[in-house]
Amino acid sequence: MPKIAYLECSRCHAHISADTPQTVCPVCPSQPAGSLYVRCDLSQLRGTSPQRVVSESVASSPWKGMWRYAAILPEVQPVTLGEGWTPMLASRRYPGVLLKEEGANPTGTFKARGMAMAVSMARHYGIAKLAVPSAGNAAGALAAYSAAAGIEAHIFMPNDVPFANYLEATAYGAKVTLVDGLISDCARIVAERKTSEGWFDVSTLKEPFRVEGKKTMGYELVEQLGWEYPDAVFYPTGGGVGLIGMWKAFEELEELGWVRSGKRPKMIAVQSTGCAPVVRAFEDHANVSQAWRNAATFASGLRVPKPYGDVIILEILRESGGVAIALSDDAILASILDWAKNEGIFLCPEGAAATAAYDYLLSTGFLSSSDRVVLFNTGAGLKYSDVIAQAMKLERLA
Ligand SMILES: Cc1ncc(COP(=O)(O)O)c(C=O)c1O
Ligand SMILES: [Zn+2]
Repeated sequence: MPKIAYLECSRCHAHISADTPQTVCPVCPSQPAGSLYVRCDLSQLRGTSPQRVVSESVASSPWKGMWRYAAILPEVQPVTLGEGWTPMLASRRYPGVLLKEEGANPTGTFKARGMAMAVSMARHYGIAKLAVPSAGNAAGALAAYSAAAGIEAHIFMPNDVPFANYLEATAYGAKVTLVDGLISDCARIVAERKTSEGWFDVSTLKEPFRVEGKKTMGYELVEQLGWEYPDAVFYPTGGGVGLIGMWKAFEELEELGWVRSGKRPKMIAVQSTGCAPVVRAFEDHANVSQAWRNAATFASGLRVPKPYGDVIILEILRESGGVAIALSDDAILASILDWAKNEGIFLCPEGAAATAAYDYLLSTGFLSSSDRVVLFNTGAGLKYSDVIAQAMKLERLA
């Protein structure tokens, strides 16, 4: 594992020491301050064979899953529950489609990757109390990894999150507050109370390590495709951590010479028509989003009215030649049922937004059926049994 050389601001590119815990860029002239990226010196690995580096790491390390990439993750003793190295499933119907099944992670979503890394670093720094505003799944993941690390977790989430999120966070022993509002209201509460309570805030893009954990999705998809890029990646976008993390991975893979040269994939951000700030900004050719009013969708992970990293998300979409698409909750539900019945895969609503977006972009000709695409199912449908049943109007017969 390499040592962290420095943290780099995504906006002003200042270099900040990682010797002490950092939140956002402390010297930023930008408002809001830029998020910080982890930078390690990877020069020793440049030109090596990725197959060799990864297989040596797998053979010599007790850690599984995303820690197969220990060689490019910051030096730390991991707090791990087996996150990452999730299946890449070929669709039975669409020859070009591969589904990255993130529902196989601990706590049933891709949030495990970011929280494994963030909590590992928090333990390394000796932080005793973590706090997070969450749309639901980040809360469950923070609660689990904090329990494993012996750290207090303080969680604020909307009172109508899927019941599984409330249940898991409570069972893992976190201090859970349900808020009559959205993730933005939860974020305000954490910001107001964190100093007096002594909490370290692990909000999306307000600390450097969740992106660092999520970048492993980019390494994995390239490795699972034989160290090649696909033509497009569909990512259900709330705060955008995974999209930003994967783009960082692609940059590093090119720096290392680990990916066969070719064009980076088109990045496709998928949202719900009930909360689509990134789509609206993309269509308006804006470089920043406007807060979405009255956000409402059963794809609860997409209920983020104003992502902190909107500037970075929009830059990535444009640089990659991608697009941002919003789907209605009806289209999302139809895709859940379609994939369940025809592929045997129970998607979460966010993942089904991605599968529905694929159908849509095929129909418009933006993509062709011979394009190789990776669709992210970011979580297990079973985590949403109450909200999906409600959308299906399914009730148990007496
Ligand atoms: C299942 C699921 N998919 C997608 C998202 C959006 O993730 P991101 O914040 O990385 O955009 C979330 C966020 O809560 C989620 O829980
Ligand atoms: Zn800065």
